Amino acid sequence: MESLGVLLLHPMNAYLEQELDRRCRLHRFWEAPPGAPRDEFLRAHAGSIRAVVGNASYGADAALIDALPALEIVASFSVGIDRVDLAKCRERGIRVTNTPDVLTDDVADLAVGLAIAVLRRIPQADRYVRAGQWKAKGDYALTTRFSGKRVGIIGLGRIGLAIARRVEAFDCPVNYYQRTKQAYPNYSYYPSVVELAASSDVLVVACPLNAATRHIVNREVMDALGPKGVLINIGRGPHVDEAELVAALAEGRLGGAGLDVFEDEPHVPEALLGMDNVVVVPHVGSGTYETRKAMADLVLGNLEAHVLNKPLLTPVV
Ligand code: DGY
Repeated sequence: MESLGVLLLHPMNAYLEQELDRRCRLHRFWEAPPGAPRDEFLRAHAGSIRAVVGNASYGADAALIDALPALEIVASFSVGIDRVDLAKCRERGIRVTNTPDVLTDDVADLAVGLAIAVLRRIPQADRYVRAGQWKAKGDYALTTRFSGKRVGIIGLGRIGLAIARRVEAFDCPVNYYQRTKQAYPNYSYYPSVVELAASSDVLVVACPLNAATRHIVNREVMDALGPKGVLINIGRGPHVDEAELVAALAEGRLGGAGLDVFEDEPHVPEALLGMDNVVVVPHVGSGTYETRKAMADLVLGNLEAHVLNKPLLTPVV
């Protein structure tokens, strides 16, 4: 695929970038000459850019797609493709791929890790020891058990199911909500997110982001989860009304939160950083060596399949 002009939207993985550089004609979007507006860069290369590679934070929006008349494929280095204008791609006959499955285990691991970290206050305990505050055995404050807690999962897709399987091993009853109900004999379905939250101790957001799921966790849901409830978000920031989350935590209406994603990444509301019942990580659900390599191989495999006119490995559109 040496002749394939590829626009990489942001540095995202060294191996991916190196392989794209070796196998294609790579344009690095962030290397537009200093001071030159990006549309000048696009005008200069538009005719030769046939592929765009983005990720969960940098996608192909309508303006970018419009600026690239030769665009044939958008290969996202992410499972979520909420940053890609799918309607526009369909209209233009542009193919879209993502990186499902290979990151499922890591994202599910992180969801469970965050829940345990919040309830057992692992980051706080770590800070306590590092600060030299541990003076006597047994002098640290007690925490809350995770095993046996009722876990409510919004979205029982690949990642949601992987979370369910994991928490079953902790003897946690699994509740779930999903837009198109599928029955699972061992899990309890709730017809609304509010009812799910009211019947759960830990609520995990694991659904795709779209118009129907934006702010799916709103004030009513947080109040239903309650002052002992913990919210875990490994989906997308806009799934949660962040202003309401800050208010619910500050007013003690919600017990705690473990967050991998935020509404305006990399901005994290200052108020959350001062809260002891909140654990925050910088959108690293898929961030392991193993998974990122597998994701990169999927992106490369999809581009290769496209060039060779073979079936795409993981088509979305
Ligand atoms: C993705 O790939 O969409 C996820 O955000 C991984 O963390």
